[in-house]
Amino acid sequence: MALHLGDTAPNFQADTTDGPIDFHEWKKGSWAVFFSHPADYTPVCTTELGATAKLNDDFVARGVKTIAISVDPIEDHKGWAPDIGDVGGTDLNFPIIADPDKKVSELYDMIHPGEGDTSSVRSVFIIDPDNKVRLTLTYPKSVGRNFNEILRVIDALQLTDLAPVATPADWQPGDRVIVSVGMSTDDAKERFGEVEEVKPYLRWTAQPSA
Ligand code: BEZ
Repeated sequence: MALHLGDTAPNFQADTTDGPIDFHEWKKGSWAVFFSHPADYTPVCTTELGATAKLNDDFVARGVKTIAISVDPIEDHKGWAPDIGDVGGTDLNFPIIADPDKKVSELYDMIHPGEGDTSSVRSVFIIDPDNKVRLTLTYPKSVGRNFNEILRVIDALQLTDLAPVATPADWQPGDRVIVSVGMSTDDAKERFGEVEEVKPYLRWTAQPSA
C-alpha cells in the first residue's frame, strides 16, 4: 500500500553496507532521507549516490541521515561502492540496504512493474525525527534526481515546523516567506513585524530566524 504524508514510516530490519540495522533505531532522533535506486553498476544510480555522498556535510548540518536501497545483494553493493567514490569524487559515506527478497521495497511501494521490471524505481522519503513521512517523490528509472532540491525541501520543512509560515514557489533559504493562512494579518504583524498584504490570503514577510 502506498505511504501517505503524515503516516508513520514502517520499521524494518535489513542488512546494509554498514552492517545489519533496525531502521527506527538507526535513525532515532534524526531526520532521514530514504531513497531507492533500480540497480547497482548502472550509470544514473552511480551519479546519484555520488551526489548524495558529496552533500553529506550539508545533510549532517541539518540533522539528516541518508540511506539508499536496491534489490541487489550486499556483495554487489560492496563491490560497486568504490565506483561511487571514483565517479563522484567522495567515498560512499552512508549505508546502502540490500533487499534481494524485496521485503522493504514492497513495504515502501518502491516497485512499479510498469516501469520495466521488478527492480525499484527512484523513490525518496523524507522522514522526520518522529518517524512521520514528510515528503514522497517518485522518479522514473531514466531520470536522475536533484539532491539539492531534497536539501531545499528539508530547509523548508524545518522552517515551517518552527513558525506559522509557508514557502512559495521556487523558494530558496533566505527568501521571503508566506504567512500561514490560519494567522490574521494583525497577529502576523505582532509576531513578524513587517508584513506585506498582496491579497487577503497572500501575506509576505521576511524569513523568521530559528
Ligand atoms: C541507470 O542507473 O542508469 C539506470 C538503471 C536502471 C534503468 C535505467 C537506468
